[in-house]
Amino acid sequence: MTQARFAAIILAAGEGTRLKSARPKVLHEIAGQPMVRHVLDALAPLNPAQTIVVAGQGMDAVARAVAPATIAIQSPPRGTGDAVRAARQALSVDDAVTDILVLFGDTPLLRTETVAVLLEARHGRGDVGVAVAGFRPADPAAYGRLVLDGDGDLIRIVEAKDAAPAELAIGLCNGGIMALEAHRALPLIERIGNDNAKREYYLTDIVALARGAGMKAVVAELPAEELLGVNNRAELAAAEQLLQQRLRARAMENGATLIAPETVWLSADTRLGRDVVIEPNVILGAGVTIADNVRIRAFSHIEGATIASGAIVGPFARLRPGAMLEADVHVGNFVEVKASRLGVGVKASHLTYLGDSDIGAGTNIGAGTITCNYDGFNKSRTVIGERSFIGSNTALVAPVTVGDGAIVAAGSVVVDDVPADALMLGRGQQVNKPGRAAKIRARFEMKKEAKKTAAE
Ligand code: UD1
Ligand code: CA
Repeated sequence: MTQARFAAIILAAGEGTRLKSARPKVLHEIAGQPMVRHVLDALAPLNPAQTIVVAGQGMDAVARAVAPATIAIQSPPRGTGDAVRAARQALSVDDAVTDILVLFGDTPLLRTETVAVLLEARHGRGDVGVAVAGFRPADPAAYGRLVLDGDGDLIRIVEAKDAAPAELAIGLCNGGIMALEAHRALPLIERIGNDNAKREYYLTDIVALARGAGMKAVVAELPAEELLGVNNRAELAAAEQLLQQRLRARAMENGATLIAPETVWLSADTRLGRDVVIEPNVILGAGVTIADNVRIRAFSHIEGATIASGAIVGPFARLRPGAMLEADVHVGNFVEVKASRLGVGVKASHLTYLGDSDIGAGTNIGAGTITCNYDGFNKSRTVIGERSFIGSNTALVAPVTVGDGAIVAAGSVVVDDVPADALMLGRGQQVNKPGRAAKIRARFEMKKEAKKTAAE
């Protein structure tokens, strides 16, 4: 794809002040996954020789989210140039490495092909020391501006806060990714100063430094949508929207029907088979795999679930992590499934909770069945065999096992195991008293009459 052999540095140590959050900025999620993971995923197909993520002191959650990437610590965060410096110790730039690619953890919409275009630009004609991703956002606002010379080469980058009015009028902005020649341009990073409005060490100053050292700097103009930087909650929502559009388009290209695509929420890792139909207002959280010919009815909420072919889910179903639906299962309205396997053809059509359970093929779970899996201290499992029938409004007090082919009568509380093929009745016995209701009614009516007469 590209002749560059590169090491990647992803900057993720910024505090993200504008998000007003206790969480590091790059861990804010879009499409069910931290922003910085999206950047790593875009890079992976290009096989970086090394990937270093620069995080701040104490950002252990960042380190966990980016594993197995190498972590470099920048403390305190004193600007993007300083962050690249913090990564240098961890870099091993041997002769084979041609480029250092610097990316930001807060540009999650970047695509692999786009990163490749930037690397190509660094390998373009002439002695190119730096290639910068340029873009034309609808509102250039706080982005750095790219100042070009008559040949279209890059002279320098001016941050919005430091820009003169004429420079602010420039529409071509710094997208944040940069490819640096590894042996002569990268070392210039040490010469960056902080004589600017924010008293920070700006990575962007490396452009002017490279030119001063006799190298060229070039711009690769890339799609604005992919370079959206997320600095506040509004931009986070905008990025989510754009990524959702991409994921929906991909799902449809791959053969899924989305009846009202703009109302379906997908995750970056959602896997959909062919001829899957997703009705309006469905949310698929992280870790969902859906096989061919499955129908997800309206208003269902699904995460961490695997659904085999032919299943029908919803409307208003909730599948939580560890839900495994085998072929042709039906899960109906107001049914919640957690950490449970539902065997081939199982039906749980109404108002049910199945947690920590294993249900054999062909079993029917009646309306209002509840697995009582939690006693306030421990979680226990419910095992139900094949072809059994659980009557409506049954409480299965786990741990408990119901054998193959058993019938549990409606309204039962199951506390002991039920053998295979047994009929189990576990409810209060019914008593009918003939004529008693009419007598009670007559007595109350007499009393009412007596009160009325006394009041007159
Ligand atoms: C930066 C660029 C700007 C560009 C924009 C594109 C600089 C000086 N400015 O501005 O030209 O148009 O991105 O989105 O480079 N970070 C650290 N350590 C720090 C500071 C930042 O790791 O000390 C990380 C942040 O976590 C973030 C990234 O670097 O992922 C960018 O930092 P941010 O403060 O968002 O820069 P911008 O002001 O957006
Ligand atoms: Ca930013």
